[in-house]
Amino acid sequence: MIITVAAFKGGVGKSTTALHLATYLQSKADTLLVDGDLNRSALDWSNRGKLPFKVVDEKQGVQLARFYEHIVIDTPAKPQVEELKTLAKGCDLLVVPTTPDAIALAATVQMVDILQKLQTNYRILLTIIPPHPNKAGEDAKTALEKAGLPLFQTGIRRLAVFQRAALEGVPVNALKDPYARIAWRCYVRVGEEILP
Ligand SMILES: Nc1ncnc2c1ncn2[C@@H]1O[C@H](COP(=O)(O)OP(=O)(O)OP(=O)(O)O)[C@@H](O)[C@H]1O
Ligand SMILES: [Mg+2]
Repeated sequence: MIITVAAFKGGVGKSTTALHLATYLQSKADTLLVDGDLNRSALDWSNRGKLPFKVVDEKQGVQLARFYEHIVIDTPAKPQVEELKTLAKGCDLLVVPTTPDAIALAATVQMVDILQKLQTNYRILLTIIPPHPNKAGEDAKTALEKAGLPLFQTGIRRLAVFQRAALEGVPVNALKDPYARIAWRCYVRVGEEILP
């Protein structure tokens, strides 16, 4: 399965999502993470620490893809419409992370308009959801569902442990921290929605 993670807005958790979905898929079968971002955040992540799967740039990805069962592709923010078309065509599922704030949601709706015209198989993932009693996550979920847009039932909570994991170059499930378990469970649930 080829899963691409893309969004119009920067900083919405694309790389974090690509990395944790790859961690989940690796527990099922050999998985390759292709870092399609020139900022190279996934590659930096793997150079800092230790990840349970291989991370390569796009060029190597083309050569290595056939040796892997699952491929997750991380992409840079603000893709041009033409780039988005290419990305959408080349995957089985496009995951669109969005934070539950007005600016990110507007960018997501804009992107979804294009994806729907392309008949892409895509699903929106709410990320960096602020904790209770803030209701931004629930409100965004309701609004997206009302608009009839495909959405993961699980969202990703805002937890500082995700930043710690990035600094240490590991996925959250490699950290010993009660919050790490909660954080990891969010992505496992999303993974199970994709491939039980
Ligand atoms: N669920 C979360 N809770 C808290 N912090 C998070 C969460 N997800 C991501 N972050 C942090 O938010 C920042 C942006 O995340 P990330 O790099 O995954 O986003 P991105 O969409 O790939 O950004 P860019 O557009 O720059 O590539 C990082 O510091 C990351 O550690
Ligand atoms: Mg990124």
